[in-house]
Amino acid sequence: MHINIDKIKKLEGSPQIIKNLFTKSEIEKFMGLYLNLPTTVHNKKQNVIKKRWLQNFNKDLENLFYERVKNIIGDFRMDNLKDEKNQDILGLFQESYNPIGLHVDAGFNLDEIIFKQTLIPLTSKGSTVIFKNKFYGNSTNFTIDENELMVKDLKYGQNLRSSEHLKIFEKKQFNRDDHKKYLLHEKIENLSGLEIDMVYEWEIGSILIFDRTRLHCSSSLIDGKKIGLTTFTKK
Ligand SMILES: [Fe+2]
Repeated sequence: MHINIDKIKKLEGSPQIIKNLFTKSEIEKFMGLYLNLPTTVHNKKQNVIKKRWLQNFNKDLENLFYERVKNIIGDFRMDNLKDEKNQDILGLFQESYNPIGLHVDAGFNLDEIIFKQTLIPLTSKGSTVIFKNKFYGNSTNFTIDENELMVKDLKYGQNLRSSEHLKIFEKKQFNRDDHKKYLLHEKIENLSGLEIDMVYEWEIGSILIFDRTRLHCSSSLIDGKKIGLTTFTKK
């Protein structure tokens, strides 16, 4: 459990979507940066390409991002992993062809006061499901897949695997219509006790901002591939 849980809870609020935060040409610059960055992980099984947003590739974009987000959420610090040279990684670009499963991005350090995370779509088709449910441990993938749950040899920056969420929330069956509409890639049993707060429909120029304690996942609707930029903040 996070040590500063009271402070973290005080900072929590509803997920926010801000439309037209970035212009088309600014989004093109993010896309250009994405194309320039080296590939970090190409997970063939999940069919996802990850690139880390490394510092100093485009200082103007770093400043632009910081200023725009600060106007919405106030002061924050980036909660970053380090690269091989001990430089901060500012975020993560993800190009995915399959929906990403249920998880929480609560970080890897229980001493931090985790704050908001942001999602900037670089392609226009896709959606992200934010649940009302919260989790106060480290970054975790929630699954009932026995093989996944056996994965214990985690590398730096990898999420834990757990089915703990099924013990925390009420074991009420997940809404069948919501499951059919958005979450067919998840077993309905893995969603017991969860309730959708918001489905964010990706739109170029907009940003989604939500608490890092919120459980979330992609919706099952993917048209080819989608590319998004995620960043994580702390106080
Ligand atoms: Fe996430």
